[in-house]
Amino acid sequence: MIRWKGQYYWFGEDRTESNDAEKRYVACYSSGDLVHWQFRRQVVALADPEHLGPKWILERPKAFHNSRTGQFVMYAHLDDGSYKAARVAVLVSDRIDGEYKYVKSFRPLGEESRDIGQFIDDDGQAYLIFESRPTKGFFIAKLSDDYLSVEKKVSFLETPLEGGALVHYRGLYYAIGSHLTGWRPNPNVYATASSLSGPWTAFKDIAPPEANTYGSQSSMLLKVVGSKNTAVIYMGDIWRPKTLWDSRYLWMPLEIGDGAIRLPPPGDWTVNVKTGEVDLTE
Ligand code: GAL
Repeated sequence: MIRWKGQYYWFGEDRTESNDAEKRYVACYSSGDLVHWQFRRQVVALADPEHLGPKWILERPKAFHNSRTGQFVMYAHLDDGSYKAARVAVLVSDRIDGEYKYVKSFRPLGEESRDIGQFIDDDGQAYLIFESRPTKGFFIAKLSDDYLSVEKKVSFLETPLEGGALVHYRGLYYAIGSHLTGWRPNPNVYATASSLSGPWTAFKDIAPPEANTYGSQSSMLLKVVGSKNTAVIYMGDIWRPKTLWDSRYLWMPLEIGDGAIRLPPPGDWTVNVKTGEVDLTE
């Protein structure tokens, strides 16, 4: 999810059943208010770019806008069917909802990389979050000036977690992640740090563990800065492994502050993107 010229743009794996089985797709939607969404187009329709085999994988696409080059740069998890390649793909487009063309793939910082996450700090600096199985944790890494490569490790959180996401809220960084249980939900956790480079606190549950993150898995933390309030929205995937194209989402405003996060039980809510005010009917 990125904000561009007053609109939110939402990118995601497009697993539509009628898609060409040889290709992998990313869909893009836009919204001015986070409530009403317009389908823009399939911004990626890519054939296997690296001889990864018939079951190759492109997951968790994240698009960034680079103000230096004017380009939109997309990162995605690129893999073979057994998740052994563990690379990131980089694609670029001149328009936010244009066709993203494949540029290259690599292992960021030379490390195996599976789930990726996106973080743009308040100063505009862009980071890639990536899970690294051999080192049992996830990296937060700074992108290069043109965003086409992953330049430098900023932090390594030594806990085996994926679905990593970050938010910078009132002077504190909050990181969330999910345990490694594939498509099955698990109790997602968070840690905090006053600097992105740490030190990070120990991880704690974002919701009662028996709730299993209400059937969802962390994907993104969206900060909505309004005139009256700053809201932070938890965005999670509710996977349906047998019918992945029919998966759903859990989006809920978080209770956040003073070093703690709580994901409330799913319920109806609204957000006013102008004021940042959230109305929750639990
Ligand atoms: C999950 C991961 C998903 C997908 C899935 C495959 O743990 O978050 O993005 O890779 O495993 O089993």
